[in-house]
Amino acid sequence: MQEIIFSEDPCRDLATTVAGNDCDRLFILTDEHTYLLCRPLLNGCAALDGARDITIGASDANKTLDTLSAVWSALGEGGATRHSRMICLGGGMVTDLGGFAAATFKRGISFINIPTTLLSMVDAAVGGKTGINFNGLKNEIGAFRESDTVIVSTQFLRTLDHENLRSGYAEMLKHALLSDTETWAEHLRFDLDAPDYRRLQGMVAESIGVKRRIVAKDPHEKGLRKALNLGHTAGHALESLALEENRPVLHGYAVAWGLVCELYLSCLLQGFPAEKMRQTVNFVRRYYGVFDFSCKHYDRLYDFMLHDKKNTAGSINFTLLADIGDIRLNCHAGRKDIDAMFDFLREG
Ligand code: GLY
Repeated sequence: MQEIIFSEDPCRDLATTVAGNDCDRLFILTDEHTYLLCRPLLNGCAALDGARDITIGASDANKTLDTLSAVWSALGEGGATRHSRMICLGGGMVTDLGGFAAATFKRGISFINIPTTLLSMVDAAVGGKTGINFNGLKNEIGAFRESDTVIVSTQFLRTLDHENLRSGYAEMLKHALLSDTETWAEHLRFDLDAPDYRRLQGMVAESIGVKRRIVAKDPHEKGLRKALNLGHTAGHALESLALEENRPVLHGYAVAWGLVCELYLSCLLQGFPAEKMRQTVNFVRRYYGVFDFSCKHYDRLYDFMLHDKKNTAGSINFTLLADIGDIRLNCHAGRKDIDAMFDFLREG
């Protein structure tokens, strides 16, 4: 199972991790932002002496076959062998693309993830989903391959901007909804305007624990892992619409709005308690605002959901809840209920 290290000192923990593994060459993958902002934090790290840097363009627009090919080339030119290792230092784009490059180069080299955003700490860097976008579809090509180790550094938590903190927190809220009422209530009490970082650190560890327990039972998403798609069927449609209209939103914002949608469906179709839905919706509205769209967008949103890769046999698959922690997989909703769900998101 993937080792997770919660680290006050990533240099020290990286040194221990690297020393415990025979590897002939080390590579450090960053994007142009994490190269400037995060790579210097590892500068004094003797374990990285002689390591080669590979730097790619930042943002989802670079999560492409061309970038992947450039990483493979850089590994080849740098003399990487099957006994080499890659450190992926960045957000979800770097850990997804880097993980896929490592999973495929010479049929797989080992890699370490050092996530630098809250979103990648609690989601992307953990659990082994790697990949790239292809033909306009997000994460269309990829592989399940876990990094050996994830080093979660609290140093990066404190430097996160307001929007990226909220974006990652939406995945934590999702994990809380999949857990129990006490964890969910704790997440709703958290003040995202004035984050208590010490408390957040503990919550991040618990949140990663929720994901790991689910992934351990179903690493290849045959059943239970679909629970982690809560909020994502509607969320991905909203994210895709925003992208198509050149007004992209951060993934976690779309997930937060997707949670509102899917809690509404949970209430309507699975008897999820209305008061708990209301409290969650109020939290999302307070910190994530509203997504600007009208009923003219419903057909397009429906179309995006129909083409979601999580579907089977042409029907839209939702993960819903009968209560907090009471998970219902492979749920379906009719077009009328889906329209009502979008009405609810717009009007509350
Ligand atoms: N991001 C959901 C999963 O890893 O399954």
